[in-house]
Amino acid sequence: MELTRDEERTLGGEEGETRQRMLELLVGLGKVFGASRLVPVASAQVSGASYKTIGRWGLAWLESLDAKVTVPTVLNPVGMDRERWREAGIPPDFAENQEKVLAVYRRLGVRMECTCTPYEFLPVRSGEHLAWAESSAVAYANSVIGARTNREGGPAALAAAIIGKTPCYGLHLDAGRVPQLVIRVEGFGGSGSGPDHYGGLGFLAGKIAGNRVPFFRGIRPGPDELKAMGAAMAASGAVALFHVDDVTPEARGFRPVVGRLEEHTITAGEVKDLLTGTEVEAVAMGCPHCSPAELGEISRLLRGKRIKKPLFVFTSRHVIERNPELVAGIEASGARVYADTCMVVSPMMEPFSSVMVDSGKAFAYVPSMCGALARIGTREECVAEATGTPPG
Ligand code: F3S
Repeated sequence: MELTRDEERTLGGEEGETRQRMLELLVGLGKVFGASRLVPVASAQVSGASYKTIGRWGLAWLESLDAKVTVPTVLNPVGMDRERWREAGIPPDFAENQEKVLAVYRRLGVRMECTCTPYEFLPVRSGEHLAWAESSAVAYANSVIGARTNREGGPAALAAAIIGKTPCYGLHLDAGRVPQLVIRVEGFGGSGSGPDHYGGLGFLAGKIAGNRVPFFRGIRPGPDELKAMGAAMAASGAVALFHVDDVTPEARGFRPVVGRLEEHTITAGEVKDLLTGTEVEAVAMGCPHCSPAELGEISRLLRGKRIKKPLFVFTSRHVIERNPELVAGIEASGARVYADTCMVVSPMMEPFSSVMVDSGKAFAYVPSMCGALARIGTREECVAEATGTPPG
């Protein structure tokens, strides 16, 4: 791997042990994946921020670091709402450890924004190189914005944040962004089989695509629907980039090659078959974190209703602070809107043996991460389940 003189100096330990270790990690990663150099990144998003997922060994590793990030860096959701953790039932010892994790990141210079939708406030431009870790944010940045990031592990994203660079391989290169299969979707777009569920579509598509780059035909999703699709594909598969014909920024350029690719079909009926299930104990929405438009939809669906079983909505603090009326509208029903965390990375779902979600990603992760049965439905169905009123 070709290194600059400055990078050689960092590797030699002239800028301190932490920077040396972080660069060693990036160079090691680059060698494994055949990178020829490091590329500067515009921002970093670091996972491994919830004490639930990193535990005491992860905390000990973080505490051993002594350096500052050199690019704008934010965190993935942590294990609790930093302000309302008591009312959310987070055990005090968990909160204490979570605070220790946050204190380390603060010391390293990381912004205390804990969200999987950092593109709501972090400027990200097409073609820009990033080092983001959260799989749904990675899928969105690559596919919807046209930025370039691999799906970094937490330590690699933090190393990139400290060094300001990441190894240039995979999705940073043109060759890594070429579609590898076509997924044709039939029956989406108001053809009568019910509301299109893009999280459910992504859940099925991720199982087909695995870690390949799919090219979709037959759908016209908006930004929030693309977000839901990408998150689900990143969870049921390991998709970090997808293209949608006529919708995503890089799709048009790949039209000439897609005729030669293997092709799969997913029908609206197959997606609809996912959306069945029995009664649940709680309902959770906001995976990935809700956009203002999604909060608005939930607020509208809840208008004039009271919840009969717990309903949790997750979003970023940024979105909460800018949309107090939507949050108040949702909470008037008895539901709760929490920031900084989510149903998967917090211990909040542990009291429940079954949880309904509107997200393909949460549907994939709730069973293993929360030990609860998961049911997936539309947002309307989730509100109906929580309020005991029929949808529509
Ligand atoms: Fe975000 Fe948590 Fe879902 S991190 S994508 S809300 S699992």
